[in-house]
Amino acid sequence: MATFEIRSLVKRFGKFTALDGVNMSADAGEVHAFLGPNGAGKTTTIRCMLAILKATSGTVTLFGRDAWKDAVELHRRVAFVPGDVNLWGNLTGGEVIDLFLSMRRAGKPDKARYDKYVSLFDFDPGKKCRTYSKGNRQKVALVAALVSDAELFILDEPTSGLDPLMEKIFQDSVLELKQSGRTVLLSSHIMSEVEKLADTVSIIRGGKVVENGTMAELTSKARGKTLEELFLSEYEGAG
Ligand SMILES: Nc1ncnc2c1ncn2[C@@H]1O[C@H](COP(=O)(O)OP(=O)(O)OP(=O)(O)O)[C@@H](O)[C@H]1O
Ligand SMILES: [Mg+2]
Repeated sequence: MATFEIRSLVKRFGKFTALDGVNMSADAGEVHAFLGPNGAGKTTTIRCMLAILKATSGTVTLFGRDAWKDAVELHRRVAFVPGDVNLWGNLTGGEVIDLFLSMRRAGKPDKARYDKYVSLFDFDPGKKCRTYSKGNRQKVALVAALVSDAELFILDEPTSGLDPLMEKIFQDSVLELKQSGRTVLLSSHIMSEVEKLADTVSIIRGGKVVENGTMAELTSKARGKTLEELFLSEYEGAG
């Protein structure tokens, strides 16, 4: 059974069709990269997976269950990191992590795991969120996800604002998740990150998946082109 499976997903906002029949899936232990130009529909797809948005038609299943109807139970098994993290200014980073976990009803994180990620990401959980820099706000969401025992990690541009050292630590952390059999959906504009991490890739444009396959398939199909070159060539066909 696929960890997540999206079939013929359509999402309309009034007359505007944001998603026009998206198909995408990934199995346990897979890092699936989700690429596409600005406005292509990545975040909208992710919002349908998280039951923040209701699909107009089509199906989204996580662990074989309906992402909309079974959202409450499913959310215990899913961790989400958005690209623009807005935090409660008056809470400390540590308090926000506790809040994230309690929203998932996941309880307190394993202490060793928590200490490991706080130290790896070199972040001070005792400071009020309003005093954090952009990168440090991003780290709060990342640490909250990484300390959880989720099985599916949905990461929507998770490293926006991270410095190169933190980017490296993020990459190592994702590879660890993969080794422990977790599934990762990684939406990113950073091709070097995707090339290092992804097993499989979907490229979406105008609400449709236009390329899908393993990293090796896509780069060989591109005849020696890099992932970035393949991505850029996708624009050429755009009307
Ligand atoms: N709530 C909404 N109401 C109307 N249109 C929306 C809404 N949310 C998204 N859209 C539109 O749907 C399209 C897809 O947006 P989406 O945020 O999914 O793109 P994206 O692939 O995540 O882009 P980016 O790389 O910039 O994050 C865009 O044209 C956007 O304007
Ligand atoms: Mg987006």
